[in-house]
Amino acid sequence: MRLNRYLARAGVASRRGADDLIRSGRVRVNGERGELHTIVDVGDTVEVDGRRVEPEQTALLLLHKPRGVVTTVSDPQGRRTVVDLVPDEPHVVPVGRLDRGTTGALLLTNDGELAHRLAHPSFGVEKTYLVDVDGVPGDEVLRRLEEGVDLDDGRTAPARVRRLGASRLELTLHEGRNRQVRRMCEAVGHPVRRLHRSGYAGLALTGLAPGAWRALTRDEAAALRRRVGL
Ligand code: URA
Repeated sequence: MRLNRYLARAGVASRRGADDLIRSGRVRVNGERGELHTIVDVGDTVEVDGRRVEPEQTALLLLHKPRGVVTTVSDPQGRRTVVDLVPDEPHVVPVGRLDRGTTGALLLTNDGELAHRLAHPSFGVEKTYLVDVDGVPGDEVLRRLEEGVDLDDGRTAPARVRRLGASRLELTLHEGRNRQVRRMCEAVGHPVRRLHRSGYAGLALTGLAPGAWRALTRDEAAALRRRVGL
C-alpha cells in the first residue's frame, strides 16, 4: 500500500498529514527516504523521525446485520450502510453481501486478501441460513434444494437442508451467488418471506443483538485465515 495510507492506518497522522511528513523527509522506509509514491510491503520497516511505526493490526468484525441496512461502503442514495454500524477506524469493508432485507452474520475486515478469499467460490466457505418461506414445502422440494436448482446463472451446488418447521428451513450453502437463497426458494415455488444468516464459516451470532458487532478472537481469526490458506 502507499506510504501515506500505511501511516494513516497505523494512526500516525491523517492521509494529508502523512503527505506532509513524507514531503518533509521525516519518513524512512527500509532506511531510505520515503517519497509520496513509495509503496510499503509486508516486512518493510517504516520509521518516522527514527522511530519505528508498527503496521496496523488486521481488524475482523462480526456484525449482526439488521434489516433495512445496505451492504456497501457508501450508498449513493444515502441509506444507512453496514459500515455506519462499526467504528470508522480501522477502515473495514464487508465480506460479500447480504440483501437489504436479510439479517444476520456479516464479516467486515480491513484485510483485502482475506476478504477476497472468503468471498471467492473456490474456497467454498460455509454459510447457514434460516429461511421462512411461503407455503409448506414438501420433501420433494427439500430434495431439489439439496441436490441443486437450475437458476439463470446455472445449477446450484449441493446444499444441506433441514426442516425446522412447516414453513421454516435451514439451508447450508458453500456458494454465495447474488440473492441465491431467494432465487432457489422462488425456483421451487416457495418464495422467501424472511431470511437470516445464522452462521458464517462456523461463526455464530450468539449474544449479538441486531446492529451489534464484536471483534473476532485471535483463535477465530487464525482459524478463518487457515480456512482460506493464509
Ligand atoms: N441469499 C439471498 O438470497 N440473500 C442474501 O442476503 C443472502 C443469501
